[in-house]
Amino acid sequence: MDTKLSISAFTLFLFLASYVRAETKGFDVTKYGAKPNSDITDALTNAWKDACGSTIPSKVMVPKATYMLKQIDLKGPCKAPIKVQVDGKILAPKNLKQLNGVDQWVKFRYINFFTLSGEGTFDGQGEMAWKHNDCGKNKNCDRLSMNFGFAFLNNSIIQDITSKDSKNFHVNVLGCNNLTFINMNINAPSTSLNTDGIHIGRSTQVKIYNSNIGTGDDCISLGDGSKQIRVINVTCGPGHGISVGSLGRYPNEEPVEGLTVKNCTLKNTDNGVRIKTWPGTPIISSVSKMHFEDIIMVNVSNPILIDQQYCPWNQCTNQYPSKIKITDVSFKNIRGTSATQEAIVLDCSSSEPCESVELNDIDLTFNGAITTAKFANTKPTIKGKLPKIVA
Ligand SMILES: *[C@@H]1O[C@H](CO)[C@@H](O)[C@H](O)[C@H]1NC(C)=O
Ligand SMILES: *[C@@H]1O[C@H](CO)[C@@H](O)[C@H](O)[C@H]1NC(C)=O
Ligand SMILES: *[C@@H]1O[C@H](CO)[C@@H](O)[C@H](O)[C@H]1NC(C)=O
Ligand SMILES: *[C@@H]1O[C@H](CO)[C@@H](O)[C@H](O)[C@H]1NC(C)=O
Ligand SMILES: *[C@@H]1O[C@H](CO)[C@@H](O)[C@H](O)[C@H]1NC(C)=O
Repeated sequence: MDTKLSISAFTLFLFLASYVRAETKGFDVTKYGAKPNSDITDALTNAWKDACGSTIPSKVMVPKATYMLKQIDLKGPCKAPIKVQVDGKILAPKNLKQLNGVDQWVKFRYINFFTLSGEGTFDGQGEMAWKHNDCGKNKNCDRLSMNFGFAFLNNSIIQDITSKDSKNFHVNVLGCNNLTFINMNINAPSTSLNTDGIHIGRSTQVKIYNSNIGTGDDCISLGDGSKQIRVINVTCGPGHGISVGSLGRYPNEEPVEGLTVKNCTLKNTDNGVRIKTWPGTPIISSVSKMHFEDIIMVNVSNPILIDQQYCPWNQCTNQYPSKIKITDVSFKNIRGTSATQEAIVLDCSSSEPCESVELNDIDLTFNGAITTAKFANTKPTIKGKLPKIVA
């Protein structure tokens, strides 16, 4: 009997110990002075400071209501895992001058085990700013803030959040390891310039699952140093599609290695899946292990594209070929409709031909008819169905 009692006492102790460990301390911004229809920058900053200092897991809560928020930079490291649950709608200043040209409106940086979740919306109110965007032509253009900057996060999750009408990119990921986006909604009108959905750079193991992204620019784009990226069950459109690059424009670019895009749909986008690099620059780097599989295209203008002569606004002076080497790329089971006759263009560099490229079962039509495929400086392995190859 003694043994039995001590066993059950021990079990109870274990149960309580794990209960205490799993406990979360809440920090509600309304307890820090946040009120509906008013600015919550100070309240959120102070709630974050207390939560981040908590030695047990913490949760900052922004309940349902509409709030205003100025630029905010929430930093770790924190003492324990930390969550931010936003169920309200948070509005950025409409006037870009009020953000003083900061690169990002809402920043989360240097945190391990961070979660941002909730049914909330971050509304960048970008309409006024898009009209100012002339950065393609004007080097002294106004700097427009992105909605989110996630930088130097490890083992973190961004879930269920809506990002709307950012003035610039919606989400910028930099220096993160093991960051997962799940069930995100990212939207801006097709006419809004530079409103890329999620841009990833210098990060490893970034995953984007079960999300909807429709903007005026790239849906997802990978900058230099992106490694082991997975994009699964994402719907893109309108916008410019899923893009690796552009690369080769700036010095000291790191290789891009490992991208899987699977079970995705692209609807009414300018491009489907593409890799783009700049010619006329001395930048040497590489792109490898790119796998695109089980993708549905709906009225996409350039469904499959490798463009190593990417040069918008004729900014390239010296036209020598790109020095970015592309290897180990596969396009598998890609079907649907193209908005142009030319569904596949693999235009590789004449000095660095693409190697180990596979096209496997590509079934794309244009106005109900067969589409074409064009290759330069690469000899892809072909399996299954394929559009008609033209010179
Ligand atoms: C994230 O991981 C990197 C690499 O392991 C480490 O150097 C860094 O300190 C970590 N950051 C945080 C906030 O834990
Ligand atoms: C990645 O982060 C998630 C969320 O914190 C965690 O559950 C998972 O164990 C991490 N994976 C690795 C390989 O560290
Ligand atoms: C795919 O993503 C959608 C949301 O866009 C979600 O409703 C659906 O459950 C996801 N499918 C799987 C298998 O996770
Ligand atoms: C694949 O995508 C379709 C359409 O978005 C979705 O309904 C399905 O749940 C996805 N399956 C997986 C395994 O993600
Ligand atoms: C298909 O795409 C073209 C070019 O982007 C566009 O003009 C046209 O309206 C789209 N058609 C449909 C049915 O959405």
